Amino acid sequence: MIYKIAVLPGDGIGPEVMFEALKVLDIISEKSDVNFSFTKSLIGSSAIDVEGHPFPDSTKKNCEDSDAILFGAIGDPKYDNNPKAKIRPEDGLLEMRKFLGLYANVRPVKTYDALLEASPLKKDIISGTDFVVYRELTGGIYFGNKGISQDRKSAFDTCSYTSKEIERISHLAFKEALKRKKQITLVDKANVLDTSRLWREIVQEISNKYSDVKVSYLFVDNAAMKIITNPKDFDVILTENMFGDIITDEASVITGSLGMLPSASVGDKVSLYEPIHGSYPEATGKGIANPMAMILSAALMLDLSFNMKKESDIIIKSVEDALKNEFVTQDINNKNFYSTQEVGNWISKRVKDQF
Ligand code: IPM
Ligand code: MN
Repeated sequence: MIYKIAVLPGDGIGPEVMFEALKVLDIISEKSDVNFSFTKSLIGSSAIDVEGHPFPDSTKKNCEDSDAILFGAIGDPKYDNNPKAKIRPEDGLLEMRKFLGLYANVRPVKTYDALLEASPLKKDIISGTDFVVYRELTGGIYFGNKGISQDRKSAFDTCSYTSKEIERISHLAFKEALKRKKQITLVDKANVLDTSRLWREIVQEISNKYSDVKVSYLFVDNAAMKIITNPKDFDVILTENMFGDIITDEASVITGSLGMLPSASVGDKVSLYEPIHGSYPEATGKGIANPMAMILSAALMLDLSFNMKKESDIIIKSVEDALKNEFVTQDINNKNFYSTQEVGNWISKRVKDQF
């Protein structure tokens, strides 16, 4: 069996962490009866530099022709500090999400025992946290009408949702809840926004079909607080695009490092797997980036796209072993640390030893 993987390392630390994840997948190829063929493509700032576009046609084609996509990171400070830039790396990511119909972004948030001390939050508050955020990814304010007036004295962004957009991700979230603790929290701002009122209406309606699932509702400002004070109360969080963007970065703090969180973006066709940490430009080329979130994203791909639960679990266990053995990068232990490559090699070897 051969699976075709589109590999999009992207910008900043993306290529460095991707390199380590591919090493791990090469070992899986070697040890199982499945083989992976990797085809690399440009995206983001690096694609603008070469092709003049952040999501070029050749990348589109590669993604469409693949069984899954592994994505590193996108973004470059030279665009962040230029509000007048006509073209931006992030546009490539948004276009890709829309083009591939990746409407649900699945972001699991789990604490690792070996990392409890690394979190800025108290151990007894975070220990045992295990929830997953279903973030809508192709609608809302990210994709609504927007504009800036010619005199640059006013600008607008529109948040809009259709019932269909809300329904399809809600069903995914309810199905996931059935496999877990059967609790869903819809995070919205229904005391102010009409789009949020529509979300509530539809989620209430859909919940009748999943009578085993307990549904609760939280305004996003309150949710931002509860995620930090009571993270153990959550099981599945369902939310719209921008609220999901913000609360998942917030939630990553619970685990002790942003460098630990993988994610999956799923839709009707091919799925995409990426770490949530972003391009971390300050660390680029220094060999200090944490490769674990990227490696865990590859594990998530094996599980969700290829039904390779055993191999996926071996990778997850190897990452946990690296944490237990304190074989970690600087973000986790800034006295005793190893390079991106050393951590990647350690995990690869551990994976190999478990077959
Ligand atoms: C993310 C990122 C993106 C987003 C940016 C880079 C456009 O922050 O994947 O969370 O806001 O969706
Ligand atoms: Mn984000």
